[in-house]
Parts: sequence; structure tokens; C-alpha cells
Amino acid sequence: MSGSEQATDQNQHEIAAEWARRDAAVVWHGFTQMSVYEDSTPVIVERGEGNYLYDTGGRRYLDAISSLWVITLGHADPDLNRAAREQLDRISHSTLLGNGNTAAISLAETLREVVPVTDPHFLFASDGAAAVEQAIKIAFQYWHNQGVTNRTAYLALGQAYHGDSVGSLSVGDGGFGTDLFDPLRFSVIRTPGYDDPDWVAKAVATLDEHHDRLAAAVIEPLVQGAAGMLVTNPDQVAAFADAVQARGVPLICDEVATGFGRTGALFASELCGVRPDLMCLGKGITGGYVPLSATVASSGVYEAFLGEDLGPRTFYHGHSYSGNALACAVATRHLELIFERGLIDHAAAAAERLGAALTPVAALPAVREVRRRGLMTGVELGPPAGASRWGRRVCAAAVSAGVLLRPLGDVVVVMPPLSITDAEIDTIAETLLSAIEEVAAEDTLT
Ligand SMILES: Cc1ncc(COP(=O)(O)O)c(C=O)c1O
Repeated sequence: MSGSEQATDQNQHEIAAEWARRDAAVVWHGFTQMSVYEDSTPVIVERGEGNYLYDTGGRRYLDAISSLWVITLGHADPDLNRAAREQLDRISHSTLLGNGNTAAISLAETLREVVPVTDPHFLFASDGAAAVEQAIKIAFQYWHNQGVTNRTAYLALGQAYHGDSVGSLSVGDGGFGTDLFDPLRFSVIRTPGYDDPDWVAKAVATLDEHHDRLAAAVIEPLVQGAAGMLVTNPDQVAAFADAVQARGVPLICDEVATGFGRTGALFASELCGVRPDLMCLGKGITGGYVPLSATVASSGVYEAFLGEDLGPRTFYHGHSYSGNALACAVATRHLELIFERGLIDHAAAAAERLGAALTPVAALPAVREVRRRGLMTGVELGPPAGASRWGRRVCAAAVSAGVLLRPLGDVVVVMPPLSITDAEIDTIAETLLSAIEEVAAEDTLT
């Protein structure tokens, strides 16, 4: 390395350290221990382009986690930028409580054509957790509006994750240091998650016992993402859905993570041939541009809320930014672009390539298992006894090699944007392989 390159490196390092210091002085990062944040060489992003992020020092990183599972077309997409600008010049926001806006109507009309929900109606919010919270409350009131007051329980799966608000946390199964909130959680009837090969049979047995007190059953179809990418197959999801709906229990499909092309179809429910009564959308709905989520209700659910003005059948729930026009315009254009660019098929093919590229990774002695459904991939590491924080260390090694990865415990998540190219897939796989070998060698040497 030449003297001037070293100086540039030094300079970049100082710039990055200064931004990290300013960051730690004022920003509180979720799921992050702030006392060590500044020392953990965080990537401070300044801009993005295509499938890459650029930090304050101009270093580029391949965004192999789609910025926490939200980016679909890549960053700063010119066509989506144009749609956002055009909407900005019209209006960014007006309330959906009691009034409407054209952008939200257009989005709902566009989504109506593609969601696997019968005669759907869309209640918009901003985060995935809020979409789940809305679904839980809608299911509760759905029964109440029909004079049924004893259906107050929910069936949810082991290892489930549905968000961090108190209701979504309740249907989730804990972990991630959230057990402390247990006293705030309402109790849920829980059956095993996808790590149990008999999860469907056990869920059906539980349904037989408890179905007449259930307000709803909730599932992440095909992939339990935050559990470390636990996967099941479409037939099992279909069998579960049939069992739930045959017993008259509303089915909530939480597609916050699986929606918008991640599993090989636009929605995982579609792949499974399942038509949920309530569906939760978020994350990729705007291609990762602006916060937006939606709870989709079938006509059977929606109509139970119709009644006299200001009457008790009304759903008394709504968020300030519900149906934000800027977010809705971006989401509509995003969906058009997915189809115009053939990105569902592209992502399905890219997923196969990712699976093949990860074959050498799966063969490493330091890897316990590689699980994948579409582009949603978890590489479970198998650290030797006494070794610690392998997930963290492997991802740190990948980040310093220019591939942004983030672990869930000792599972390295790989979930690139739908727009990922073959060459980029190979880069991810090769970088991950080297990172695992590097960390495994450190623990062998010490
Ligand atoms: C299946 C699922 N549901 C809900 C959520 C919560 O979404 P948000 O973080 O946007 O609140 C997540 C987030 O990872 C998720 O994976």
C-alpha cells in the first residue's frame, strides 16, 4: 500500500470514528448495547446505490441483508425516486381517519389484484408490528361484534417473532432478551415452531382442544425469519391453514418478512395455496423506501365491522400516518416495477444460485446447517465448546471485507435484495466462506 493510500485510509478511519462518536452521543439504536456501540466500528451509511451502501468515508458494502429485509429493487432506484418526487410535489400526507387520499386508494386497488385474500380491505399503518397489532385487535373484535365474548385466546407458534409492540410481542415467543417483558405479555396458546418436524400434527391436536376459545391463529408462512430462518414446506403450511379455517378460526398470515418476493412468489401464502382471513404486510411493501405496513382483511372479517355510525361495531383504532400518501405512491410504483422488471422470477432464479453458491459454505465443519427458502437464508454456525459470539465475529469479518451481514445469534442471515446479480451472489458466498474460515481458525489457534 502506498503512502498516499495509507493516508486516505487513515483519513477515512478518522471520519468514520467522528461520525460514530456523534451518533453515540445522540442516537439510541434498537437491539444494541449503546455502551460499546462506538467501539464496535458501526457502518455509518451516507448514501446507497443499487445493491450497495456507501459509508461516510466512501467505502462500499454489498447490502446482503437488504437493510434488515426491506430493500427489494436496490437503493436509490431512479424509477422509484421519480415516483417519490412526483408524489412529494403533490402531497406527502393527509389523514385517513374519516377522509381519504388518492395515493392510498390507488395502492389498495393495486394490492387488491395480487393479495391472496378474498375481497380484501386494507388498514394501513407504518411498521410490521403495528400491522400485527391491528390484526390481533381486529380478530378480537370480529368475534365481539358477533356477540361472542369468550374467544379471547390466540394460537401462535414456538419461535415465532411478530414485532416488538406489546401485542405483537405477546404472540411472539420471546428470546432476544425480551423475556423481561413477560409480565406485559397476554398469554397465548403455543404449539411448536418449524424446528419440530411434527409441528402441524401438534398444532392440530392443540386446535382440537382449544379452537372454540380462539380469536385467531397466527403464523409466519413458510419461514420463521427472526427465529433464525427456520423453514417448513408449502404442504405443511396448507395443512395447518386448512385445520385452522375448518374449525372456524380466523387465520392471520404474518407476511411482513416473507412478502414481496422473498420466498419465490410475491407472497408465501400464495406458494402454499393459502387464503388467510387477515394478512400482515410491511418491510418490502415500499421496496424499503418509506415506512408503511398494512393489515389486509377478507370481506368476511371486514363486514363484521359494519353497523350504525359511531356504533360499537366500529374499529376504534388508527395511526397518525395511516395511508401516508408518499409511502402509498412509492408502494404502488414499487409493485409495478417488480412486475415490469420480472423480479419475482429473477429472485427465484437468484435464490437457486445462492443455494448453489453456498454449497461450499454448508460443507464447512464450522457450519451446522444452511436453511433457505427463496432468498431467505440462514447459515447456522456450529462453534466449538467454549467459543463465543461466532455469529457476531463472522459478520464483522464479512463487513470488513465489504459485505454487510448481520447475525441472529449464531445464525448468519443472508437475504439480499430481489435485484441481486449472479456476480454479487458469488461475492456474498465467497466472503462468507472466508469469514467463517477466519473465525474458526482464530478459535483453533487460541
Ligand atoms: C414476521 C415478522 N413480523 C413482524 C415484524 C415486525 O416488523 P417491524 O420491525 O417493521 O415492526 C417482523 C420484523 O422482523 C417480522 O419478521
